Amino acid sequence: MKEPLIFCSYQAKEIFMKLGLIGTGIIGEAFIRGLLTKGTFEGDVFVSTRSESRSTRLAKDFNQVSVFEQNQDIVNQSEIVILAVLPEQVEDVIRGLTFRADQILLSIVSSITLKSLADWAHPCEKIFRGIPLPPIEKGIGPFPICPPAPELESLLSKVGTVVSLENEDQFLSVAVGSAMMAMFYEVVATTASYMEETGLPATSAAQYASSMMHALADSTLDADPAELQSLSETCLTPGGLNEQVLFGLRKSGWYDSLRGEMDGIKNRLSKY
Ligand SMILES: NC(=O)c1ccc[n+]([C@@H]2O[C@H](COP(=O)([O-])OP(=O)(O)OC[C@H]3O[C@@H](n4cnc5c(N)ncnc54)[C@H](OP(=O)(O)O)[C@@H]3O)[C@@H](O)[C@H]2O)c1
Repeated sequence: MKEPLIFCSYQAKEIFMKLGLIGTGIIGEAFIRGLLTKGTFEGDVFVSTRSESRSTRLAKDFNQVSVFEQNQDIVNQSEIVILAVLPEQVEDVIRGLTFRADQILLSIVSSITLKSLADWAHPCEKIFRGIPLPPIEKGIGPFPICPPAPELESLLSKVGTVVSLENEDQFLSVAVGSAMMAMFYEVVATTASYMEETGLPATSAAQYASSMMHALADSTLDADPAELQSLSETCLTPGGLNEQVLFGLRKSGWYDSLRGEMDGIKNRLSKY
């Protein structure tokens, strides 16, 4: 294990950083894989033995990864502790641990507030919340962080687009947006399965649907906020096929339902 050297920038220091992960689940594993394969992270990574197949796989695939039985050993060894357990597990897990004031705690748990984290992880002072998504494993996608974290920016920008959030109201808005993931996949899957049911081989249908959605999503990246709002209209041929689907879905109330679901997520998360 390498000893940390003293550098004048966070960017240089991170090469020797020691990073601990408590909660080696779906998103925890994706995060670590992204950092180590796409993020060129060269420091040490300590993961908990829980979800043993994942932790064993990580240690087998990357010699920087060590597996620990005790969460306290992970905390003791780490400069940055990433918390990725389920919301209902957070309080028990953190309260059972002793943090240092100089550590960074990055919680990627969807619903636990900075105040609760600060109470439970005292005396740790540098506490942040983030929302990575599974494509972090490929080094892409947004990485919202609250409050803004200059000390993490260089590290996180290697595995995604860092979106700095000033307060937890902004974080809440982003958390609602993050709940659109499964809905998006369902739209891609419905498009592919319809094409398959109506005659296209399954492989071609999947290729077409995923490649089309990828291209469309990519084309939104350069759009400014106003342009984004009008993209659905500007791509329409009057009386054309896309117009029929868009207007039909609007008439059926599909987009209103989507907004209603977003309200539901916001209300649910506001209770925390
Ligand atoms: N999945 C996503 O796309 C996503 C995206 C952003 C944020 N999140 C957030 O990330 C968190 C984890 O989600 P997930 O989907 O990755 O769930 P998950 O796969 O169930 O992961 C939870 C992990 O926590 C471990 N764990 C539970 N208690 C523990 C303890 N006392 N000590 C150490 N590890 C413990 C579990 O181990 P065992 O399997 O051994 O119980 C499991 O590996 C959630 O809070 C979620 O809100 C998820």
